[in-house]
Amino acid sequence: MVDLIEKKRDGQPLTKEEIQFIISGYTDGSIPDYQMSALLMAIYYQDMTDAEITELTLAMAHSGEVIDLSALKGIKVDKHSTGGVGDTTTLILAPLVASVGVTVAKMSGRGLGHTGGTLDKLEAIPGFQVEVADEEFVRLVNESNVAVIGQSGNLAPADKKLYALRDVTATVSSIPLIASSIMSKKIAAGADAIVLDVTTGEGAFMKNLEDARRLAHTMVRIGKLANRQTMAVISDMSQPLGEAIGNGIEVIEAIETLRGEGPEDLVEMVYALGSQMVVLAQKAPDLETARQMLQDALESGAALAKFREMIRNQGGDDSVIDHPEKLLTAKYTMELPAKSTGVVKQIVADEVGVAAMLLGAGRKTKEDDIDFGVGIKLHKKVGMPVTAGESLLTIYANQEDIEEVKDLLYANIEIGTLGEEPALIHDIITE
Ligand code: URA
Ligand code: CA
Repeated sequence: MVDLIEKKRDGQPLTKEEIQFIISGYTDGSIPDYQMSALLMAIYYQDMTDAEITELTLAMAHSGEVIDLSALKGIKVDKHSTGGVGDTTTLILAPLVASVGVTVAKMSGRGLGHTGGTLDKLEAIPGFQVEVADEEFVRLVNESNVAVIGQSGNLAPADKKLYALRDVTATVSSIPLIASSIMSKKIAAGADAIVLDVTTGEGAFMKNLEDARRLAHTMVRIGKLANRQTMAVISDMSQPLGEAIGNGIEVIEAIETLRGEGPEDLVEMVYALGSQMVVLAQKAPDLETARQMLQDALESGAALAKFREMIRNQGGDDSVIDHPEKLLTAKYTMELPAKSTGVVKQIVADEVGVAAMLLGAGRKTKEDDIDFGVGIKLHKKVGMPVTAGESLLTIYANQEDIEEVKDLLYANIEIGTLGEEPALIHDIITE
């Protein structure tokens, strides 16, 4: 290991065998944290070639269980977002693309810090089970085309260990390390094809477009080298996506969107990502046809019916589809009136995510519990005019004293004279 640290420190590429030695040694504990820390810092400064990142990704993917989805018919397409605020897309996309015939065998994660997680949102539906045995998972997907469950405990254990170490050694923000972390989990989860939503802006890992582009290109290249059809959409996460930020409240937003009544930006993201998924699954010859199929599924009610079926399949109370207001259980509802007249210039996504977390919608640490009933509903988005006194947003809370949350929101919603709606999709990367 000392020789390998030295080699990377001096800017030499590591071979496949060397990378496999490192990952298996680190996973089984024979390589200690202090040596791995030094190697991570060397990678941070010296970068890695595509070949190295691919080998690292594959070694991490094979450090634990690799899910075999071959019992499922069709091309399994996975979708992954690098993180957002109010990102309701998976809740909508899973039933929507399943309703046009795409096989969706999805493993999702939980939220941490300012970002929300799909599993937490699904658990806001009373009774909904995200822990499903492998055979049951396969049966549900074969029958209904869709199931969204929690990631198995032994999926890419090398990533779990490495991520914790990166977190305390200032090596999280390294493109080869982020790319291999994400792609190893996607590959271990058994996807044939992968649609990546690489977010950029205040609410995202990649604060600027250049870094987001590099990360997207890197992941698309290693996906292809690992024989997975992969493409990436670079999307804006400077303000939260859609209008709802929370858990129950985002389920409501998903139901409204599946009814064809979703907020414009969220609907557009859903079409952009969904049509790519449909094409990768070979259910449509081109993006335009795919988009039309998705639109039809929203309008005919097929997509909403699929969501109902998915909820019922996983033990959830499907009456929320007809009565989504059931999910609004917070004790207090409070408005945040605008202090001045003008145009909304900025809504800082990560800080709004923190505000939702402080209300109880998210976790500060992994051990925290979630309050499904609380959240934020935006009435104004960037570019919209607002009059002093008009409500910017509604806060759903279970505590009466939320001065801290209100202050944080006021500090992060800027009203000015000129506000421009940001571009939602910055780029599409296919190679
Ligand atoms: N998401 C991941 O899964 N890993 C990273 O390193 C960053 C974001
Ligand atoms: Ca949302």
